[in-house]
Amino acid sequence: MDTLPVQVLSKRIQRLAESATIKMSQKARALKAEGHNVINLSLGEPDFDTPQHIKDAAVEALKDGYTKYTPVPGLVELQKAIQAKFKRDNDLDFGLDQIVVSNGAKQSIANLCLSLLDEGDEAIVLAPYWVTYGEIVKLASAKPVILKAGIEQDFKVSPAQLEAAINENTKIVLFSSPCNPTGSVYTEEELKGLADVIAKHPQITIISDEIYEYINFIGKHISIGSFENVKDRTVTVNGFSKGFAMTGWRLGYIGAPKWIAKACTKMQGQFTSGATSFGQKAAAHALNSDLGPTLEMKAAFLKRRDMVIALLKEIPGFKVNFPQGAFYVFPDISAYFGTSDGTTTAVNNADDFCEYLLNEAHVAVVTGSAFGADNCFRLSYAASEEELKEAIKRIKTAVTKLK
Ligand SMILES: Cc1ncc(COP(=O)(O)O)c(C=O)c1O
Repeated sequence: MDTLPVQVLSKRIQRLAESATIKMSQKARALKAEGHNVINLSLGEPDFDTPQHIKDAAVEALKDGYTKYTPVPGLVELQKAIQAKFKRDNDLDFGLDQIVVSNGAKQSIANLCLSLLDEGDEAIVLAPYWVTYGEIVKLASAKPVILKAGIEQDFKVSPAQLEAAINENTKIVLFSSPCNPTGSVYTEEELKGLADVIAKHPQITIISDEIYEYINFIGKHISIGSFENVKDRTVTVNGFSKGFAMTGWRLGYIGAPKWIAKACTKMQGQFTSGATSFGQKAAAHALNSDLGPTLEMKAAFLKRRDMVIALLKEIPGFKVNFPQGAFYVFPDISAYFGTSDGTTTAVNNADDFCEYLLNEAHVAVVTGSAFGADNCFRLSYAASEEELKEAIKRIKTAVTKLK
């Protein structure tokens, strides 16, 4: 007879949900290993390689002996490049002591939540949201307050919705624009509306995740932190994963009020210390160089977006949004709830729908429930045009069987 182990996992880790995007990729990989031709559109990762000049800079840094520990908030050379970038692209002025480099934007967000939140605090998360936000808030013992916006409002929360959700326990407001999973981009006017609400509540810090900044199809990216009334209360999060196709390098950063930057440095100093030395040298080079390769990737994403939207719109019952950034589409497929192909169990929600697509069409996408949107699924178009065309053809064939 099995005896129960004396050791048990913490309640903290037991409460933590596994990442739905990672889970879906694992399922897709398992099906592939069984010999099925699976098209994986579940990943949040550019399908491009890191531009050569950035790789070369890392190799040079290695040759030059950049192999040691770095200062916890980052190499000064990189901090200076980030400072100049914030000024150049975002109209944000930060001192070097306000910039903290991390092992990815994900770590930056964890540093922030663990530094700012306590039990009893509330974090307003604009939904649809990136999978990790709510989990990190919970890890910090605080309560995520999810503010939902559906496809009819282009998945963007209004100032009135935000105002209604704020109370004296609200400590942070957290969102991404361009948004993962919807690709929606808050306009300058919409951001100003949110800023004006938050400005009235001095206890709130804004965490603005701008990691998709460079994959933005509306022209100039606007940072909410550039508005005068919230600039001292906004943390701007960014990183190298998306705009420079550097997901595996694990490099992110924040520009923050001094007291927050100091806290994040303290937190990171106990967890991971400074980010990888030679990677930071290459990242500085990336920011200081011409953005040509980034703009080429963006142009490719834009072309794919238009193709993907045109194809998805041909599928009956799909309500398709018109994303202005990132590399995701987020169709509403609730018209299929309550249907079945007659052989498998009924499709009653977005989880069932995605499971059905994986098994029937061998196309992996991510259920909207992972992002706080139960009627939708996320399709990443960070894949070749051929793969995208084939995947959507298969999706169309599969859903026509649902009655
Ligand atoms: C909105 C958003 N923020 C942060 C991240 C994490 O970025 P990083 O690779 O820098 O940790 C992602 C990655 O998918 C993302 O989509």
